[in-house]
Amino acid sequence: MTKRHALPARALRFLRDLWHAGGTGGLSWHVHACCTRVPWQATVAQLESVLNQFTPGSSHLLLIGASAGWMLPSSWLQRFKHIDAYDIDPLASRLFDWRHGHMLRSQGICVQHHRQDALHTLSELLNRHPQACVWFDNLLGQHRYRVRDEIQAEQDIAALKEKLQGRHWGSVHDLYSGPTHDMQWTRRIAALTRAGVDNSRIDSQHAQDLLREVGAKGVWVDHLTCQVFPQNTTTTLIPWAFKDRYCHWLQMGWVAPTPATR
Ligand SMILES: C[S@@+](CC[C@H](N)C(=O)[O-])C[C@H]1O[C@@H](n2cnc3c(N)ncnc32)[C@H](O)[C@@H]1O
Repeated sequence: MTKRHALPARALRFLRDLWHAGGTGGLSWHVHACCTRVPWQATVAQLESVLNQFTPGSSHLLLIGASAGWMLPSSWLQRFKHIDAYDIDPLASRLFDWRHGHMLRSQGICVQHHRQDALHTLSELLNRHPQACVWFDNLLGQHRYRVRDEIQAEQDIAALKEKLQGRHWGSVHDLYSGPTHDMQWTRRIAALTRAGVDNSRIDSQHAQDLLREVGAKGVWVDHLTCQVFPQNTTTTLIPWAFKDRYCHWLQMGWVAPTPATR
């Protein structure tokens, strides 16, 4: 690309990331998240209770897809001494600081923000921070929207676990999302998955059976995240009433290296 074209391309990317971050966040996410803080409280509490069962294995966190941390519980962030937060959204650092900065500073926790595509540069980040653990905070399910190529998106996501071998790492991400008949859906799925599920069972047939069982309506989006975790990782499914009669089904898990892979 010539210099003449590089500037408009950069400016366009900046504006796109500011507005919707390729369908993964941006202003539209901030406005929706801010307005639905109260209805989302039950999901945030569930995320917090599962997160606090994970043992991070390092006091340094690479937090990927931090945004403003609308759904991130403070109790989890306080477990670290140093946090490197990555997001492509130009507003993320300011809004994250507004929501969590005061509390983190008062605990002596150092946060550094980076406006960066952390999936594209993951190998480099891991090399630069060999001791840090990694948390993907609800971005992997949107990767398909940024990449706009389902096969590529699924391959990128499935390849992460190889790159992360030997690390403590985890993720919360969308598995499926779609319309529901009523809000009873969240109660039914919570009852169904309270005990946690074995990740190896979440193939698409199993997911379709579960969706039928909980009364999901119409066609649900597959976020291409069935292969995020290594086989047999124990994960928790969490229903998230994203908006009226539209739910996201989140999957959450943590991987600790076995002594042989360390
Ligand atoms: C659904 S939002 C999650 C928000 C956040 N975890 C919260 O609780 O507010 C997904 C975030 O991931 C960011 N994102 C998407 N792809 C990214 C990438 N490749 N590298 C860094 N950030 C990314 C988006 O800009 C967005 O802020």
